[in-house]
Amino acid sequence: MGYRETYDASLADPNGFWRHAARAITWSREPNTVLDGSAAPFYRWYPDGVMNTCYNALDRHVEHGRGDQPALHYVSPVTDTMQTLTYDDLLSEVSRFAGVLTGLGVGIGDRVVMSMPMIPEAVIAMLACARIGAVHSVVFGGFAAHELAARIDDAQPKVILSASCGIEPSRVVAYKPLLDDALDQAEHTPDACVVLQRPQLHAEMGERDHDWSELLAAAKPVGCTDVLATDPLYILYTSGTTGKPKGVVRDNGGHAVALAWSMQNIYDIGPGDTWWAASDVGWVVGHSYIVYAPLLVGATTIVYEGKPVGTPDAAAFWRVIEQHGVKALFTAPTAIRAIRKEDPDGALIGNHDLSSLRTLFLAGERLDPDTYHWATRVLDVPVVDNWWQTETGWPIAANPRGLEPLPIKEGSPSVPVPGYDVRVVDGQGDEVEAGIEGSIVIRLPLPPGTLPTLWNADERYVNGYLSAFEGFYTTGDGGFFDADGYLYVMGRTDDVINVAGHRLSTGSIEAAIATHPAVAECAVIGVHDAMKGQNPRAFVVLKSGVDTEPEQISREVVDRVRQQVGPVAAMKEVVVVPGLPKTRSGKILRRTMRGIADGREEPVPSTIEDVRVLEDITPFLKG
Ligand code: COA
Ligand code: AMP
Repeated sequence: MGYRETYDASLADPNGFWRHAARAITWSREPNTVLDGSAAPFYRWYPDGVMNTCYNALDRHVEHGRGDQPALHYVSPVTDTMQTLTYDDLLSEVSRFAGVLTGLGVGIGDRVVMSMPMIPEAVIAMLACARIGAVHSVVFGGFAAHELAARIDDAQPKVILSASCGIEPSRVVAYKPLLDDALDQAEHTPDACVVLQRPQLHAEMGERDHDWSELLAAAKPVGCTDVLATDPLYILYTSGTTGKPKGVVRDNGGHAVALAWSMQNIYDIGPGDTWWAASDVGWVVGHSYIVYAPLLVGATTIVYEGKPVGTPDAAAFWRVIEQHGVKALFTAPTAIRAIRKEDPDGALIGNHDLSSLRTLFLAGERLDPDTYHWATRVLDVPVVDNWWQTETGWPIAANPRGLEPLPIKEGSPSVPVPGYDVRVVDGQGDEVEAGIEGSIVIRLPLPPGTLPTLWNADERYVNGYLSAFEGFYTTGDGGFFDADGYLYVMGRTDDVINVAGHRLSTGSIEAAIATHPAVAECAVIGVHDAMKGQNPRAFVVLKSGVDTEPEQISREVVDRVRQQVGPVAAMKEVVVVPGLPKTRSGKILRRTMRGIADGREEPVPSTIEDVRVLEDITPFLKG
């Protein structure tokens, strides 16, 4: 079956389609029911199926003779390290680390928060949680202590895992003081923290801290715990429109089925192939396509600690592809733009044998046509955009290379993926014609692998995603279909911004700025940046009577955002303005501001309080 027949079948008979796909997974008890809609809009996939995700990712491959095959290559130009773990090795490490966790009293359903750099131990710890039915929650290392504290309080972990440091090209990032600071700020106290000492920096240990290596040396390997397909595998916090992060829940069974399906049908990756998702385990791309999907299908994954440029140079990616015979690379467009800036003609590519590379997959932000054309020209392989989000866990729209490679159109991630009934609607929820932009929504139920709800926040899930248009999930992205059914995703319709492929909430940046004693009010919007896609820019109104120099305030605001949200917010632009444009009821006109910054002709709302204020800040919005 080609794409069209498969897509139609997935929507006409979801039960049949996903029952068939579930055969790719080894079940301890096969599910009788595929889709359970009895508690709609909370849908559950495979509710009576029993399985273990770690068993599917490791044990069964070893049992089927893949033990000697590399499961994971760790490539770390920042520490000058290369290491390969076979499936045998990885299974042994994961089983023993699972023993560490059970030794600390962690069991089925307990949460384990992790703040880890891109090292094999991060993958080992995630799989060890999966092995014993514990729920991991990985927090990206570029967030500040305050953000980590918010996640600790929401997830209420029994144990926290961390390392002494992460390594950025420009500096060694001390993780342990950040964790201690977060625990000081958090109300919740975990039973224990386990810290991996890295040679680059020694962490001072406190009373509740345990040394990772010491615990591991004493641990006994443990086997897999059976869990229900609907039991949570992980919580991954993502940015919403407010400052409070949303805990996206991922279940076990539907996730394993969907990821295995996507590897074969979208990414064309199978057993023995080497696949590289150059992202971070702190993001959803890292969860799905560094850790789980490649291992579920018996492929080899690459864990890369470093940046695409500067460590050591803009040929870093090509070197890894050549050394490990990478069949497909998955990264964000911003990484390609960073490489292009250093090597505009792609001259460094010519020094490497990239004959193994069949496809470059790009996601995380809009793939601009310029970057698409450049990458296609210099790499001479299909450059394939795919659109999805933390909530869905795997692509909503893509060019299904394994199922049926479709013509690629610049600016479009191609077509809806089987399982996703994607529509574009206007403000009233009516579908719009091809070529007309609107909100991109997905008819319920969402396919397996997508979020069943938010952690401890069913109501927020319904209000945030399901209430705008009855029977549909709102993606938060706007776009349009063309006459051939290709989807074009143009950007967020809410206050979420995307900086260098990192999803950030302007709300949390604003909350950090508002803590500055001189700030009366503020608004943050994303403005176009040629390298990072978007950059946050803050507009700040000072309290009356403040006579500090605006430059000084700006520096302090930048510092505050870095301290409270984290370096990843990359907030460098602060404009002190006399006022913010508001409606008569006092609502800041962020949408109008965003529109002007994006160069769109935005009609000035008739409800605006003072048009002059808008005129005053327009040059700063455009600049
Ligand atoms: N721990 C601590 N700090 C981190 C961090 C981490 N894990 N990740 C990023 N940071 C810091 C950086 O050091 C930088 O700090 P600085 O202001 O002191 O320089 C800041 O956060 C911003 O980082 P980043 O956005 O990564 O910018 P960059 O200039 O260092 O690198 C790119 C730019 C494009 C090379 C890089 O962002 C990249 O590779 N992006 C790919 C994105 C991606 O993988 N997205 C996932 C979806 S596929
Ligand atoms: P995240 O949840 O961090 O993966 O971010 C998801 C958001 O990133 C989406 O809602 C989009 O706004 C944006 N995004 C991701 N991939 C793409 C893409 N291929 N094209 C356009 N936008 C994208």
